[in-house]
Amino acid sequence: MSHQRPIKRYTAPDILAMKGDKPIVSLTAYHAHTARIIDPYVDFILVGDSLGMVMHGLPSTVPVTLDMMILHGAAVVRGSSRALVVVDMPFASYEESPEVAFRHCARVMKETGCGAIKLEGGVQMGETIAYLTKRGIPVMAHVGLTPQAVHVMGGFKTQGRERADWAAIEDDAKAVEQAGAFAIVLEGMAEPLAKKITKQVNIPTIGIGASAHCDGQILVLEDMLGLSPQVPKFVKEFGQIGAAIEGAVAHYAEDVRTRAFPTKDHVYSVKDKISAKSKNKLKSVGK
Ligand code: KIV
Repeated sequence: MSHQRPIKRYTAPDILAMKGDKPIVSLTAYHAHTARIIDPYVDFILVGDSLGMVMHGLPSTVPVTLDMMILHGAAVVRGSSRALVVVDMPFASYEESPEVAFRHCARVMKETGCGAIKLEGGVQMGETIAYLTKRGIPVMAHVGLTPQAVHVMGGFKTQGRERADWAAIEDDAKAVEQAGAFAIVLEGMAEPLAKKITKQVNIPTIGIGASAHCDGQILVLEDMLGLSPQVPKFVKEFGQIGAAIEGAVAHYAEDVRTRAFPTKDHVYSVKDKISAKSKNKLKSVGK
């Protein structure tokens, strides 16, 4: 029997405790294999509702459903063992009332095994965040550019480019902190505003298109791998996986067409030695 203790998974309080300590590293993942690959390197994995656009080719995150989030969330939990898994609540699953939000968040936690959920919104979600956190649901908030509000914002627009807009976004960040969120994603906002908010709140800020001064950073995995056809300005491509896939597929197609694949290494031979099972079979049919 092994005496090795399993590596403990990061929890929401562990992420909260990292404020002011060391930068928090996070990425999105939507399926088990990528979760397994990134798990040793990140503190938390977000099963983002960006999966609607990235995996399912939807025009925005608005059509993403609870069932889609649960399917991908459970796969990511199965594929990982160390990082905290945070699952995004999709549009229209939590805004109506704290009670509706609790029912849907509880379903996500029960059916995926994730350790926290994320929802979009600031001041207007304060009551819901307080209701959820008092009932055992750790909440990561998300302010600034909130993609589920794309139709209200009139596009995926960077927030806080004019100083006159800062106070409302700062109020959002303070409201979610006060309500009990353990961290906040700051997405698509002017850099000095993200830096200011990071100083104002005592919970970690996780930047995406925000600031290097945030307490942590997150990117969509497919974007940073070079797999997405188009990426926003704030993405740094750390790999060229799209080009690698295309090269491998072109090589495969060529090998199939020229019959260079499969070779004898990829097919099964017939065994010369007759097994006892086969001998019995032959006996029973009188051969
Ligand atoms: O859905 C998502 O992937 C996100 C990140 C961009 C923060 O919310």
